[in-house]
Amino acid sequence: MKVRLLPLALVVLTACSTSRTTPFTAPTVAVAPLSLAARPPAVSPVVADKAMVVSAHPEATRIGVEILQKGGNAYDAAVAVQFALAVALPVAGNIGGGGFLLYRGADGQEGALDFRETAPAAATRDMYLDAQGNVVPNRSTLGHLAVGVPGTVAGMEALHQKLGKLPWRDVVQPAVDLAANGLRLTTKEAAGLNRTRTEFAKFTPNTAYIKPGGNWAEGDIIKYPDLAQTLTRIRDQGRAGFYQGQTAELLVAEMQRGKGIITKQDLADYQPKWRTPLHGRYRGYDVLTFPPPSSGGVALLQMLQMLQPYDLGRMGWHTPQQVHVVTEAERRVYADRATYLGDPDFGRVPVPQLLDSAYNRQRMATTLPARATPSAQVQASTGLPSYESDQTTHYNIVDAQGNAVSCTTTLNGAYGSKVVVAGAGFILNNEMDDFSSKPGTPNAYGLVGGTANAIRPGKRMLSSMTPAILTQNGQLKLVVGTPGGSTIITSVLQTILNVVDFGFNPQQAVAAPRLHHQWLPDQIDVEQNALLPAAADTLRAHGYKLAPRAAWGRVEAIRVLPDGRLEGGADPRGDDTAAGY
Ligand code: GLY
Repeated sequence: MKVRLLPLALVVLTACSTSRTTPFTAPTVAVAPLSLAARPPAVSPVVADKAMVVSAHPEATRIGVEILQKGGNAYDAAVAVQFALAVALPVAGNIGGGGFLLYRGADGQEGALDFRETAPAAATRDMYLDAQGNVVPNRSTLGHLAVGVPGTVAGMEALHQKLGKLPWRDVVQPAVDLAANGLRLTTKEAAGLNRTRTEFAKFTPNTAYIKPGGNWAEGDIIKYPDLAQTLTRIRDQGRAGFYQGQTAELLVAEMQRGKGIITKQDLADYQPKWRTPLHGRYRGYDVLTFPPPSSGGVALLQMLQMLQPYDLGRMGWHTPQQVHVVTEAERRVYADRATYLGDPDFGRVPVPQLLDSAYNRQRMATTLPARATPSAQVQASTGLPSYESDQTTHYNIVDAQGNAVSCTTTLNGAYGSKVVVAGAGFILNNEMDDFSSKPGTPNAYGLVGGTANAIRPGKRMLSSMTPAILTQNGQLKLVVGTPGGSTIITSVLQTILNVVDFGFNPQQAVAAPRLHHQWLPDQIDVEQNALLPAAADTLRAHGYKLAPRAAWGRVEAIRVLPDGRLEGGADPRGDDTAAGY
């Protein structure tokens, strides 16, 4: 499949890149009767005068705000929030995973810190295939072999060394306290731990994540003594407290127990990387976002370029016409993603070509006025998706000086590989599934990939994480990001459209029901109340398959008001909380 498709896609890319000077007129799309426009509920954001933290857990938000109030900057608070989430939000917060952190300083300096996991040195391209070359179910998602070399602790240390102000131990200590003293479980976290009980028990029977003799309930206090010890070693020794010594020994012993392949050398070799952020423009905003090995930034900027010629605001929110245009952009961009995106340290990723505005606008020239373009005609592929949990998490911080952080961090699936490191108390990721185990075969998110994202030792798996920061005339305006696997990119896109094109405040923008199309499968996923029934009927009549789907994403947003105050939007789909002072 790949051999047949890749040249086709290259022809399109080359042809369009060379036609830079061809004028482009957006295909005509009728303006909808506004009676077909849905309307998300009017909800108010949290407002703060100076500084704000939005994260997926109230304890993590509280800790972040306290660090800011003690004189820490946004980077200190980011480290504290990251470690707090590793305790308070075990479904996704982590020290056993990785992530991408984007920042923009009050002085306009910016940076992109890649602490993505890597494939262990013993990883091979076909490690998830059987003798017949078929993907073995669960091998890349569950258990020790699914684990990539964690990057979070090294990433946090690199961030703190470069930009932190408070002592390292002061920013790690709140997470140590949280793990040692315990915290009250929310309804959602209790239910998640109960759902995962059998899988935890399979790998690590004696773990704090399992309630002895019963199920967790909302309000139960959960304590993590082993994790508190691990965090203490990190507090006292920095990255050496994780990648060397007792924590490394426990992690490697865990690997050996479960036939995993991460070695002490893999841990010692892990390095985070500073990368150059990507820039794009959308309706007068400068959009700063993350480069490969995330596909998210490239894809977001491609979509914004494709949508720029269309007056989405005039079409109306979630009218058939607006959904049509956005879906056709998403379809085309996810097709590019599957073909071209991977770790730039292991192969050329054609970012400049993909971000060529002429290319992206011409890609939309094949959009039909009121008809879905079948994905098979954009590029073909195989397979149906198997949606699994899409647990990653995101936090945004703006401090009183105006420094901004947008960070998405992940174990990949809910509770990652479900492996808890015995004696060290933290959960390991299952990020290896973000590689393309076999070209053309969908991963847990239904995403297909090609050789650009094939497994190689030391390589970073492709991601969809899309931390983003918008400025206007050099002034900070919006900080945004979300978890959600393959839906991350379209959720960030919709939040930006909700604010910029539809004038929603950040709370309304993150709460609004969402839609999602990712080229394959050829369907629009639809959250409850995202479309009026008449709009759904029209879309079906225009050739779209609509697939109702349970809520996804946990988008966080901070908007800076013209008077400098901050508005926070925390996704009501989770326990997400915005707070500031
Ligand atoms: N594991 C989800 C992502 O990185 O996109």
